[in-house]
Amino acid sequence: MGRGAALGRAALLLPPLLLLPLCPGAAGGNWMWLGMAPERPGCASPPLSSRQKELCKKRPELVGAIREGARLGLHECRSQFRHERWDCRPAPAPRRPGAPAAAFGHQLSSGTKESAFIHAVTAAGLVHSVTRACSAGNVTECSCDASLQSGGSASEGWHWGGCSDDIHYGMSFSRKFLDVPLKNVTGKSGSRLAVMNLHNNEAGRQAVAKLMSMDCRCHGVSGSCAVKTCWKTMSSFEKIGRFLKDKYENSIQISDRVKKKLRRKEKSQRKIPIQKEDLLYLNKSPNYCVEDHKLGIPGTQGRECNRTSEGPDGCNLLCCGRGYNTHVVRHVERCECKFVWCCYVRCRRCETMTDVHTCK
Ligand SMILES: *[C@@H]1O[C@H](CO)[C@@H](O)[C@H](O)[C@H]1NC(C)=O
Ligand SMILES: *[C@@H]1O[C@H](CO)[C@@H](O)[C@H](O)[C@H]1NC(C)=O
Ligand SMILES: *[C@@H]1O[C@H](CO)[C@@H](O)[C@H](O)[C@H]1NC(C)=O
Repeated sequence: MGRGAALGRAALLLPPLLLLPLCPGAAGGNWMWLGMAPERPGCASPPLSSRQKELCKKRPELVGAIREGARLGLHECRSQFRHERWDCRPAPAPRRPGAPAAAFGHQLSSGTKESAFIHAVTAAGLVHSVTRACSAGNVTECSCDASLQSGGSASEGWHWGGCSDDIHYGMSFSRKFLDVPLKNVTGKSGSRLAVMNLHNNEAGRQAVAKLMSMDCRCHGVSGSCAVKTCWKTMSSFEKIGRFLKDKYENSIQISDRVKKKLRRKEKSQRKIPIQKEDLLYLNKSPNYCVEDHKLGIPGTQGRECNRTSEGPDGCNLLCCGRGYNTHVVRHVERCECKFVWCCYVRCRRCETMTDVHTCK
């Protein structure tokens, strides 16, 4: 709820119209603003590439799923990174009127592992939301996985039934919608970046496929579970986000030399193959400590930190050694509630004081 509100706020600060500069490597990446805009934009929205607009118009029943995919991905990105210096939040628009807004646009084309994560998580979000729409019977071209309607394992007492999520359509739609605009620039100057982003899009989709699981329901006399009906289902998006966060922590820097195949930058590790689900980056990340409008980095000033934590949310790390301010925040809440016969609840008002620390 709180995060949703924060996203809404970010969207108000940064109307999608400001975010148009399309860098070659980020081509087609701006679609994700559909997930943040408060006014439920449709297919004709400016952040879509012409190819995306075309696809979207051909499949009007998917407009909601496209928006939902972007929202899911960005929400999960914020959630996975909420304690880190880079918190997946775009920079506020430049104060100078008329100045170009770099914001997320630059982060998308920076070739860093953060940009790798955004691509993967939003591509996964699109698979997830489109597949949901398929299973709900909202899309003509797809439905539940029909190949599983019969069969199962009678000896183990279960059979397929219900609606199994069929991710094939979602996977292919996510490829068409996100990859084609990038493929169009792989031959040009942004090529390394586009190849990297294509790989990371696919890594996100593979995460959804890899984390498919099975749900079952018991039948039988008084819940004896003598017979089970099972169906395939996608994991929660949070689980997919955690999986991708782990891939982010172990992401691989690739060489920027244009070769046919992607290669690791680290020569001593070149023999270790790159897997489909690995996240790849080209460029080292900035430290995200100080605000930089040009790079779309909001900096950590004003971020709330935890004085006792040793982790990335600890004041020392989060504030980059600049120190922090402490404010006392007063909370008033109902407490010591008692049930009074009959019939109401009587409470006291309790006040608590908490220290809140924010980075200088
Ligand atoms: C399916 O369509 C209905 C009606 O338009 C909508 O309310 C619902 O949210 C959709 N479900 C999914 C998963 O897209
Ligand atoms: C690729 O780019 C060219 C020129 O920028 C454009 O005319 C063409 O429609 C694009 N193709 C696709 C498939 O997006
Ligand atoms: C701060 O960090 C400590 C240690 O990691 C943790 O126990 C505590 O719950 C955190 N406090 C808040 C407000 O998050």
